[in-house]
Amino acid sequence: MNETDPRDRRPQRIAVLPGDGIGKDVTAEAVKVLDAVRAHWDLPLELVHLNWDADRYLETGESLPEGALEDLRDNYSAIFIGAYGDPRVPDMKHAADILLGIRFGLDLFINYRPIKLYSESLCPLVGKTVEDIDFVVFRENTEGAYVGIGGNFKQGTADEVAIQEEMHTRKGVERIIRAAFEWASGHGRRKVCMSDKSNVMRFGHDLWQRTFAEVATEYPAIEAQHMFVDALAMQLVRKPENFEVIVTNNMFGDILTDLGAALQGGLGVAASANLHPGRVSMFEPVHGSAPKYAGTGRANPVAAVATVALLLENLGHAAAANAVDRAIGESIRARFTTADLGGQASTSEVGDRLAAGSVSGE
Ligand code: NAD
Ligand code: IPM
Ligand code: MN
Repeated sequence: MNETDPRDRRPQRIAVLPGDGIGKDVTAEAVKVLDAVRAHWDLPLELVHLNWDADRYLETGESLPEGALEDLRDNYSAIFIGAYGDPRVPDMKHAADILLGIRFGLDLFINYRPIKLYSESLCPLVGKTVEDIDFVVFRENTEGAYVGIGGNFKQGTADEVAIQEEMHTRKGVERIIRAAFEWASGHGRRKVCMSDKSNVMRFGHDLWQRTFAEVATEYPAIEAQHMFVDALAMQLVRKPENFEVIVTNNMFGDILTDLGAALQGGLGVAASANLHPGRVSMFEPVHGSAPKYAGTGRANPVAAVATVALLLENLGHAAAANAVDRAIGESIRARFTTADLGGQASTSEVGDRLAAGSVSGE
């Protein structure tokens, strides 16, 4: 994560994109927390709300506005996204244009997804402690199965053929693997596990194998492990305590981090950062827009607020980031939660408590 000098008073402009469904609900709470810590620590944060959502897309036909990527790149310090997806846009066109457009267009090659258990009571596995569930997934974020290369032939006929290619480049694979080792060595972690399906994907995933073996030699103090993704899915449920840092391709990272979210209490808790060190980065909870919960007060804002902590850390505000994270832990341990975590509080009640908790106790 980047560190900037906290004495630097230049404004840090944050683009806030609530998106659709519960994205709007949880973003309102994330903003409460950002406002509270900004006032408390006198942080030079400027929030700019951007209404790039399904309503706007359906009205105007525009998803990601022209020039948006350049504007975000040149004029912002960070991007916060709630969630995208709306049943009125079944092909997810606007969501793909905006979410994947930002990941790919700004070359945010690291999808950093920490799996952290705030309280034993949230873990569905019997007998696991907060020490047992504590690992980070480095998901490759600009290649793999997400590149959209392929097509349909004889579409809609009995002879239809559909082809969808994965793409892996040496540079792309190497930089995400190196990022995982660098992070591990900078954070006192001793193991990095690379996961692929190279026993079947003999070309693309073999490139991962060879690159991993090479990069690992540069980090002799860190144990390099390998696990096929099917075995890893099983081991994450059986012995999550064996893992510290996992690095994997785009699609496997997507799937494994929903599994990881379940280990920490569900999608209502899981946070993520889309990073390219030294450049503007994008922060979003792992969950989607859960349309059936939109506007009901049932959405858990913890994932969005934990994402705010990642954003604050990235912008060099470690004290504020730690305070937000501590407030989340306290509120969960006090069982002041939304229904997905077993409590009775509403989205905004939890948000209020997290905002207050983030600026008390100093
Ligand atoms: P989802 O994450 O929106 O919801 C799945 C289930 O998880 C919900 O029904 C709910 O039970 C639970 N859940 C998720 N977030 C929660 C929260 N904050 N509080 C309480 N419970 C929560 O996934 P889905 O239903 O598969 O997808 C809905 C839409 O979101 C789709 O359009 C999908 O493509 C999109 N999506 C977007 C993102 C994103 O914007 N990053 C991520 C995943 C899915
Ligand atoms: C995620 C989501 C996205 C992904 C979808 C909405 C495109 O599932 O951020 O995990 O697959 O990356
Ligand atoms: Mn996902």
